[in-house]
Amino acid sequence: MNTERLNVDPADASAFHPAILRAAEMLRAGKLVAFPTETVYGLGANALDADAVARIFEAKGRPAWDPLIVHVSDPEMARTLMVDVTEQFNRLQQAFWPGALTLLLRRSDRVPDIVTAGRSTVGLRMPSHPTAHALIRAAGLPIAAPSANLFSHTSPTTGSHVLHDLDGRIDALLDSGRATIGVESTVLDITQSPAIIYRPGSVTREQIEALIGPVAVYAHKQELALEGGVLPSPGVGLRHYAPNAKLVLVEGGLTELVQTAREQTQSVAHNRLGILVPTDWKVPELGPSIFFPWGKWRCWDELAKRLYLALRYLDDLGVEMILAPLPDHDGLGAALRDRLQKAARE
Ligand code: TXA
Ligand code: MG
Repeated sequence: MNTERLNVDPADASAFHPAILRAAEMLRAGKLVAFPTETVYGLGANALDADAVARIFEAKGRPAWDPLIVHVSDPEMARTLMVDVTEQFNRLQQAFWPGALTLLLRRSDRVPDIVTAGRSTVGLRMPSHPTAHALIRAAGLPIAAPSANLFSHTSPTTGSHVLHDLDGRIDALLDSGRATIGVESTVLDITQSPAIIYRPGSVTREQIEALIGPVAVYAHKQELALEGGVLPSPGVGLRHYAPNAKLVLVEGGLTELVQTAREQTQSVAHNRLGILVPTDWKVPELGPSIFFPWGKWRCWDELAKRLYLALRYLDDLGVEMILAPLPDHDGLGAALRDRLQKAARE
């Protein structure tokens, strides 16, 4: 299959832009179109067309038990896909949509089984990226979209990341520059009481709690070793977001990073160790290794923008091992920790 390249400057995005009209027409015809969102690029298909959605699973090599998020252009479109429009839903969507919050809701029977992997809930999100918003408006359809990478691989934050994984496997790429946040949306299940965060993201626990009171954060117990299909949200239990190189995480600060780097330079071939280095850390001479200047430490949004870029960049250089310091739990740091820990799973 030839993957059509379409380009749009996010500043020019509208439901009348020729590239967006073309992409929308392809979605209406049941085709697969990768498109940018503010978090990461998504691989979209008409969420109401089970055959089109089946192609997403095929193109990504994604198991059928892992449900997809459905992207909407406005809360009214969301309401056609759910039952039980609660006060909590209204408050959350007013506060955080458009934005990086996926809400798990009881689904209506408009949503095909394949989208939710047969579950009674559907994940809905209204993205804030102008290109994503214009595309969904132009298509006039809810768009099912997982991240536009091969299953379990690092999520794409640029059009070229998408092509690296999916060129020739999808109908089109709508390229619109770099995703601004860089890690996937927060996944919040509001059918439970208290509501549960399954995946931390840029809408933080603190922000959600300020609005709706205490929420739970799902903690995966490795020893359960459950099959993906029986997990409450399949993404929680898996090796995910992973580079090809072995990822080694370092808790602590500069001293611990330097110590681990010194130990590890012995165990990999010459120049085959990559290190994500905070730009404000003064790292001494370490012997053969490749530094990726990650961003200022504790500026979690700066680090989030460059996390997947860093992993893909070092992978492309063919490193055998990547060392990364682990962010703290506060704010978006929680999302960075979560992604790094899932990516480092064996
Ligand atoms: O930021 C994002 O959320 C990006 C952009 C493209 O919107 N999308 C994304 O999709 O990260 P995906 O498929 O890579 O991750 C969705 C996560 C998975 O862990 C999936 O298991 C969970 O959300 N999920 C989706 N629907 C669910 C449902 N009905 N019940 C439980 N978990 C669900
Ligand atoms: Mg994904």
